[in-house]
Order: sequence, then C-alpha cells, then structure tokens
Amino acid sequence: MKKNVFVFSRLSPEHQQRLRHNFNVTLLDPAGDIDAQYAEALPKAHGLLGVGRPFGRAQLAQAGQLEVISTISVGYDNYELSYLNERGILLANTPDVLTETTADLGFTLLMAAARRVPELDAWVKAGHWQAPVSPAQFGSDVHGKTLGILGLGNIGAAIARRGRFGFNMEVLYHGNSRKPALEQELGARYCGFDELLGEADFVVLVVPLSAATHHLIGRRELALMKPGAILVNVARGPVVDEVALVEALQSGQLRAAGLDVYEKEPLRESPLFALPNVVTLPHVGSATHETRQAMAELALDNLERALLGGTPRHMVNP
Ligand code: DGY
Repeated sequence: MKKNVFVFSRLSPEHQQRLRHNFNVTLLDPAGDIDAQYAEALPKAHGLLGVGRPFGRAQLAQAGQLEVISTISVGYDNYELSYLNERGILLANTPDVLTETTADLGFTLLMAAARRVPELDAWVKAGHWQAPVSPAQFGSDVHGKTLGILGLGNIGAAIARRGRFGFNMEVLYHGNSRKPALEQELGARYCGFDELLGEADFVVLVVPLSAATHHLIGRRELALMKPGAILVNVARGPVVDEVALVEALQSGQLRAAGLDVYEKEPLRESPLFALPNVVTLPHVGSATHETRQAMAELALDNLERALLGGTPRHMVNP
C-alpha cells in the first residue's frame, strides 16, 4: 500500500508526478483553509515535504504515523529536534546544493549595501539625475577591505572565497572551531568575537540560529563594530536584535546593512523601510531556478529513501 505524503510547499508538476509514482500525495492549497487542510492531512501523513512552516508539538501530536519530514532548506531551526527524536521522526534537509548560490547572494548584499545600489537605482528612476552625483551619494570600497565572517561553515567559506580571491579582502572569522584548512586556503585569521567586530569593515552573519546565537548581534555588539562598518545577514533574522540594528543605522554607527532575513517573516512593515541605507531582500538566499530545482530534487530523494526503506542522503537526526 502506498504511503501518504503531505506537501506544504509549491512543487513543480514533474516533481509532483515523480512523488505520485510512489505515494498518495496531498498538496496544500494555499488559497484554501490552511488549518482544515492540516487537520485532514496530518493524521494520515507518513511524510511531510516542504519549507517554511514550522510543525510544533501540537501539530505533530496529530501526526501519529509520521516517519519523516523532508525540509527543502538547509536550515532546520524551526523544528524541535528533541521532540522529533522522542517520536522517532526523521528530519532530512538540503545542504551543499545551495552553498554557492547563497554565497552569491551574501556577496550581492555586501556589494549593494556598500555601493548603495538600490538607493541610487531608485534615484535615477525617479528622474533625479540631472547633474553628477554629489559626494553625499558616494559609496564605500569593497576591494582590499577586511571581511569578518561569523560562522565559517560551507556558505561562510564560499563568501570568504569571493572576498579573498575576487576582491583581495583580508578575511577574519570567528566560530565554534578553528578551520586550519580554510586558514591555509584563504589566509583567513581566526580571532575573538569582539576583536572581529572591532576590525572588520564588513561583518557577514552565516551562523545557524540556536539559543546561543539568538540576538548574537545586539546593542553591545553593534557598538563594538567599527564606525561606518556594514552588516550583512544571510543567516536567520533573530540572530540580530532588529531594534538595536535600526538604532545603529539611524545613528550612523553602521554605514549600511544588507538583509535577507528578519526577526519576523514575511516583513510587512518595519522601521527598516524608512532607512535608505538598508538593502532588504525577501529571504531569497537560495532562490534561483537552478538551485531551487536541485533542492527539491534532493528533498524528494531524501523523502523517498526514508519512506521506501533507504537512508536519506542528508539527515539532521537522530
Ligand atoms: C535555507 O535553506 O535554510 C534557506 O534559508 C531557506 O530557508
């Protein structure tokens, strides 16, 4: 008998067809009554596939037959691992295939914030370009500056490579462990957290969200940053205290910020919107056609392996 899979993200027709080959598939209809659909699907589901909707204890308690959650993301901070382990539910994710794409976006944010791309683009389109720009509109150099990476995992290292080899930047990093091979490759220097904040012209956040990294960057840390530094966040919104960030941007302590993630998503209104020195993207680190396709493939593969008797290629637990 085919097992039941509940899909809570958009899936291409090809991927839907592939899933239907092995499973009874229910697709969430975003236009319908979401709660009613969950109430209907969860008790029957053996597998869940998708991204962005946290399934907490209350919902998972309804999912008595659940064997696997296959998230189409590398991040899994929205799941309570100890509860999944207690229930024997596997969690699989999609690392690696999005590394370079997310690094591209991190560097795009860094460049856009430094060279004030959205601000100047809006200025031109508003018809204000009647004379050469004034020094008040100049940006900051990127090449040759100091790049501080908080969290030198795969994505952090890929961003550091762009900085080192593309822009001749000096790379500093801080994290839970030293990375001798990357130090060698990138000439990167490990330093203390406060030291990195004080020395970097650009601080890029690439740490996973956990209790230890919640509000890692708050008032104290922003004050420690080099005056006029630029902060880039491609990790998770709650890594930064957004109220403190707004203050630091308003006061000029930070020159600019490039953000892909926010404390609350989707970001519908925010004091950030009034700040021309912030680049705001809608959590699109991995959102290219090629990479989303690769992530969906991997998530399907993980789900199929888990439900058809194999081992997922990327398991987060147990
Ligand atoms: C990820 O893969 O974790 C991206 O941030 C999408 O959530």
